[in-house]
Amino acid sequence: MDKKGRVFSGARPTGRQHLGNYLGAVKNYVKLQEDYECVYCIVDLHALTSLTDTANLRQNTYEMALDWLAAGMDPEKSIIFIQSHVPQVTELHLLLSMVTPMGRLTRLPTFKEKVRQQPDNVNYGLLGYPVLMAADIVLYKADTVPVGEDQAPHLEFTREIVRRFNNLYGEVLIEPKIVLTETPRIMGLDGVNKMGKSLDNHIELAAEPAEIRRRIMTMVTDPQRKFKTDPGRPEICNVQTLHKIFCPDPTVPAQIAEQCRNATIGCVQHKKMFAEDLIQALAPHRERRAELAAHPERIWEILDAGAERARKLASETLRECKEAVGLP
Ligand code: AMP
Ligand code: TRP
Repeated sequence: MDKKGRVFSGARPTGRQHLGNYLGAVKNYVKLQEDYECVYCIVDLHALTSLTDTANLRQNTYEMALDWLAAGMDPEKSIIFIQSHVPQVTELHLLLSMVTPMGRLTRLPTFKEKVRQQPDNVNYGLLGYPVLMAADIVLYKADTVPVGEDQAPHLEFTREIVRRFNNLYGEVLIEPKIVLTETPRIMGLDGVNKMGKSLDNHIELAAEPAEIRRRIMTMVTDPQRKFKTDPGRPEICNVQTLHKIFCPDPTVPAQIAEQCRNATIGCVQHKKMFAEDLIQALAPHRERRAELAAHPERIWEILDAGAERARKLASETLRECKEAVGLP
């Protein structure tokens, strides 16, 4: 069967993956493997834009690869590799930087956010973060990019750069489209911020049952509901939102929502139910991950083999780009 097109996505090696990563991105990485040629990248060079201490980079890369494979990303179906193992991306990054207006980069909301987060480390690489991301995508001629909602401004930027490059040098690059899951922005345990590691408001896919219970107990529910006897608002409760996703019986969340509204179930009781359902739902992931972790060398072999395949695609595109630009 002919594939529908090519998918590319990347994620920074942040170590163990959390529910936000899975529900916003990895779930689609796995699904798209069936119908598309998929290329998935651990973007270690992107990670450098925010790191001064790189001591954990290798371990975090490994932990992330374990979670990816345990979640069902399959090296038989997809190319899975480490960004820095394909040096062509850095050369394309430079070529694309020549068609990138400075002001477009400084105005990006994602850049402004980073400047707030790391005021003492606003480096040149950080400004070029979206250019490197555009280079990732176009290097593999991907037409489809599964990511979480926070990445939408970067995708829009990529599309603009592709149009600019093609206008100047001919139709060489492909303008990619974003693909979101049905849950493109998962809120953290605090109920107000996006789930992520930096705010420590996350639950890891491979978390132990005790850890899952402990973290769920800290979740913020409806802030207006002070006592169990107060009626709650399930539509704004993050426990309700996440439980709906992981509850094995689809009729249960609606029942709990009703009980919450008429104050016949308390938040603590609901959290306990959610914790047990989540533990059940994540058990297969934890088991597969443990099996994979028994052979660390296999993980590195998979990543090496992926880079080998990725370099072939990359050198072809880079050659076309250099020729189009007119480099002698
Ligand atoms: P990061 O770990 O921030 O590098 O993100 C890796 C991928 O997961 C990206 O596609 C993000 O958009 C996605 N992602 C991260 N956190 C969340 C979240 N809380 N909700 C939805 N998607 C997320
Ligand atoms: N910027 C993405 C993130 O923070 C990671 C990334 C790098 C990426 N290159 C990419 C995502 C190319 C999709 C396509 O999650």
